[in-house]
Amino acid sequence: MAKIFLAGASGAIGRRLVPLLLYAGHEVFGTTRSETKAAELQSAGLTPLVMDVFDAPALSRAMAAVRPAIVIHQLTDLPANLEPSGMAEGIVRTTRIRIEGTRNLVAAALEAGVRRMIAQSLACWVYADGPQPHSEDDPLDLRAEAPYAVVVQGVATLERLTTAAPPIEGMVLRYGQIYGPGTGSDEPARPAPVHVDAAAHAALLAIDRGQPGIFNIAEDDGFVSIAKARREFGWEPGFRLGNEHGAR
Ligand SMILES: NC(=O)c1ccc[n+]([C@@H]2O[C@H](COP(=O)([O-])OP(=O)(O)OC[C@H]3O[C@@H](n4cnc5c(N)ncnc54)[C@H](OP(=O)(O)O)[C@@H]3O)[C@@H](O)[C@H]2O)c1
Repeated sequence: MAKIFLAGASGAIGRRLVPLLLYAGHEVFGTTRSETKAAELQSAGLTPLVMDVFDAPALSRAMAAVRPAIVIHQLTDLPANLEPSGMAEGIVRTTRIRIEGTRNLVAAALEAGVRRMIAQSLACWVYADGPQPHSEDDPLDLRAEAPYAVVVQGVATLERLTTAAPPIEGMVLRYGQIYGPGTGSDEPARPAPVHVDAAAHAALLAIDRGQPGIFNIAEDDGFVSIAKARREFGWEPGFRLGNEHGAR
């Protein structure tokens, strides 16, 4: 059982991950920027931490006080229901989180002696054109046109920061298009859909399974290969929360 610092406990993935972590016996400290959501997190059974990832000193103080073994980074800042009119600004905000926010998390984690960091990345819109299914070794599309260029730039930086911070073991989960409770979409979108429960389950499994590195996490529809996550974590895209997890 481990002490977990979950950045983004109040998000779509965070809300499904919290019951899995608690059911597995982990001690969970989870972040939100909102006092209201902090109260909800507390009643869900974890210790809430109210903070903004851009406030590096506060983040470092909180991480040093908790001294977690594991950091899970599930921070994004896209508009509610992925409203198209707000996507351009949401992409800019989320890119800032992926670059500056990840840098702050890694710095705080290094100071606090964290063993492993698991970070949310993307499997769609980032691979350069090439044969499918894409494996994790395929190149990212670093010469993408706008608006994808900024997305790829953010993802590439997040992945580099997460996997190049020894002695922290960096685990990157490249999620496909997320659907299910809290995501604004009940139906899978192609290519590479992934149910939010299965996405959360990958983060749980990555706590103590698998060698550090990058993993595609999506349904097996031929766009990305998920052989590595299957082999190293025993992850399966059909996983769903059950009553035993006390999911709400
Ligand atoms: N239905 C929707 O409204 C909606 C919106 C976005 C994404 N989605 C879908 O759901 C999928 C997964 O969602 P997700 O869990 O990645 O995103 P999410 O549900 O938007 O959650 C994002 C998390 O990041 C936190 N956060 C954002 N900016 C922060 C900052 N500056 N400092 C600290 N924390 C910050 C939020 O906390 P607080 O806000 O509590 O502070 C929240 O916990 C997405 O890929 C997308 O498909 C749906």
